[in-house]
Amino acid sequence: MSLKYKPTVTRRAFIASSLASAAATAVPLPGLADSDVQRYALSAATGKARLLPPPYSDTDVWCYNGTVPGQEIRVRQGDRLRVEVENGLAEDTTVHWHGIRLPNAMDGVPYLTQEPIRPGGKFVYEFDALDAGTFWYHPHQRSFEQIGRGLYGALIVEEADPPQVDRDVTWVLDDWQLTESAAISDDFGNLGDMSHGGRMGNTVTINGQVVETFGVKSGERLRLRLINTANARIFALDFEDHAPQIIALDGQPVTPHAPKGGLVLLGPAMRVDLILDCTASPGARTQVVDRAYRDREFRVLDLTYGDAALRDVPPDWPMALAANPLPEPDLTTARRHEVLFTGGMMGRMVERQMGLSGSGGMMSGGMMGMQGERPGIWMVNGVAAEERISEPFLTLERDTSHILELTNATAFAHPIHLHGHSFRVISRNGVPTEHQEWQDTVFISVAERVEIAFVADNPGDWMFHCHIAEHMAAGMMGVIRVT
Ligand code: C2O
Ligand code: CU
Repeated sequence: MSLKYKPTVTRRAFIASSLASAAATAVPLPGLADSDVQRYALSAATGKARLLPPPYSDTDVWCYNGTVPGQEIRVRQGDRLRVEVENGLAEDTTVHWHGIRLPNAMDGVPYLTQEPIRPGGKFVYEFDALDAGTFWYHPHQRSFEQIGRGLYGALIVEEADPPQVDRDVTWVLDDWQLTESAAISDDFGNLGDMSHGGRMGNTVTINGQVVETFGVKSGERLRLRLINTANARIFALDFEDHAPQIIALDGQPVTPHAPKGGLVLLGPAMRVDLILDCTASPGARTQVVDRAYRDREFRVLDLTYGDAALRDVPPDWPMALAANPLPEPDLTTARRHEVLFTGGMMGRMVERQMGLSGSGGMMSGGMMGMQGERPGIWMVNGVAAEERISEPFLTLERDTSHILELTNATAFAHPIHLHGHSFRVISRNGVPTEHQEWQDTVFISVAERVEIAFVADNPGDWMFHCHIAEHMAAGMMGVIRVT
């Protein structure tokens, strides 16, 4: 709304009307028939899931609509999506639509963009799917436990003109800490997990189940959408005798390329879209192996080939995706900002190695910032965030370009996520990246410096945080304000 044409509007009236227009984002745009809105309903509640095969019993989980993962939400680019969320949990919750650009009021961050949805309460999320791609949804309230107990689902936005494939398959990856009786171990948010690499599990599921085999046909072309919903586990998948091509990262198209070192890397919250040509012979059995952690490699599943081939040679269909309408940052005028991540176990050592000793502030290096039940273990520019943060550590003028130089001066890798925007990853340790890839979650190795660039075009207060849920809970987050 433009004040220029309403000179008589008083301040009080203006506030009232701007609240009204914020509320109006939750109803269909004028001219949009109700039938053009894709409607979904999600109910967050306790449930049971069969994560493990018999003789194990079901696992008590928290989930959406009774399943883990929650229902896959699938719309087409340009559709308007309306999701009515009901909270059947015994505690507050919200839903965050990870990676998809949307208005701030729909972002699902408690106390920052909305009041939490109270037990028994409802909230309607509604936004246009501007970008095609592979996204996901999850609570942003006590994420380390709510996501950890099974609250998450895939959000797929289909391209108008998707690349031709034989099958479009989503693999939602998760990692659970289960007891002998297949129950979820209750020790969420313990200090050890928080100060080290986060909560690592002992059971990896795909689409909510421990999977032994995945059937394919010789000559078949798959589009595989991988989503890492784990609290802390990093995946580095080796498809062994296959040559997958990465066509999108975090939902955003990238020049099709083979994964570096043959490993498909997914930090928590990250997504990778692959084209996988099934090139082995009929009847073959090959493995998908995770090699993220040295000496702890494991077989994720076997690809089992049927006896009949679909075709003799892999198809030569084009695999590149059309770009999404993202604003291109202007690197010549971009303002630079330094963001330093410190803290955690052995963080002091890395700071010293990087010649940064002391720059992380007084609380740098571990447990000194511990207060109350939310230990401030991790810091962004010297500050360990409290649960309810509202003050931005960066304020960016709308529609201007910015480069954030992110330095990981800790002894752990971190997948750092920005809400409301996608950014280009332009360099790592001073070396330009080959694909200048768009991401919403950037993986930063120990002692690494990464530059990301974006246009701050989406007004509001946006979270910027590590997606290892325990790191986030222990301070590794901040707010970036776009005015
Ligand atoms: Cu996947 Cu702040 O979120
Ligand atoms: Cu982290």
